[in-house]
Amino acid sequence: MSTAKKQVKRVTTHILQGMKNDGIPISMITAYDFSMARIYDDAGIDVILVGDSASNVMAGHETTLPITLDQMIYHAQSVVRGVKRALVVVDLPFGTYQGDSKKALQSAIKIMKESGAHAVKLEGGEMIIDSIERILKAGVPVMGHLGLTPQSIYKFGTYTVRAKEEAEAKQLMDDIKLLEKVGCFGVVLEKIPAELAQKVSKSLIIPTIGIGAGSGVDGQVLVSHDLLGITKEFNPRFLRRYLDLYSEIKGAVEQYISDVKERDFPSEQEQY
Ligand code: KIV
Repeated sequence: MSTAKKQVKRVTTHILQGMKNDGIPISMITAYDFSMARIYDDAGIDVILVGDSASNVMAGHETTLPITLDQMIYHAQSVVRGVKRALVVVDLPFGTYQGDSKKALQSAIKIMKESGAHAVKLEGGEMIIDSIERILKAGVPVMGHLGLTPQSIYKFGTYTVRAKEEAEAKQLMDDIKLLEKVGCFGVVLEKIPAELAQKVSKSLIIPTIGIGAGSGVDGQVLVSHDLLGITKEFNPRFLRRYLDLYSEIKGAVEQYISDVKERDFPSEQEQY
């Protein structure tokens, strides 16, 4: 078979488990549209998260709370069209799964049917366990999310590091054990002490993916707009910026504006 015709091997939840078993770190990034998802997939990313951070970086909201299920599905559909290899996970948005497991199942099924994504992610532990179990029983893979859970920002009141105190660390430990027990295939750990994240990760069979959770977890996730330097006001300690795209894009558009004003664009070669 020619190289072009070779099938790309899809990343599955089983492959992620194998990576944890073999000590291979898992790479995860957020995406919200076709063009960027295609680039990340081509680069070889393992997991693409259609995060509800779309509410912040795509729609300009202050929090993740306003984004709707239909808006998440629109983003997920666009991402899925750009992906050949990565596992695509979609956030269930705020208000579509808390306190009503039947509604949670309907939301998850709507995402899976209409977007073609491979799994969903929900924020929380014991408090939402009925929703998680119902979704899992329907055969939809679920990823958990503990630590700083941005959908609960008005309960926390701040985006600072979570689970620094013993009681909250214990609650997180109990929650994550429960998520593993009911069948989640992985858990995102956001902004918790590195020592706790390592301890938790070592005590679990399923993989943990950290964001601001240190190096002792089984994989890392970053919001693509932060990693690429498109956002510029957000500068937490855990963030490594690989590009300054804000300046790059601004510079390119400034040049374009100047070329138009100076009648330098289009040139002879750029017209018919
Ligand atoms: O919505 C999102 O981008 C996330 C990541 C921060 C993990 O949940």
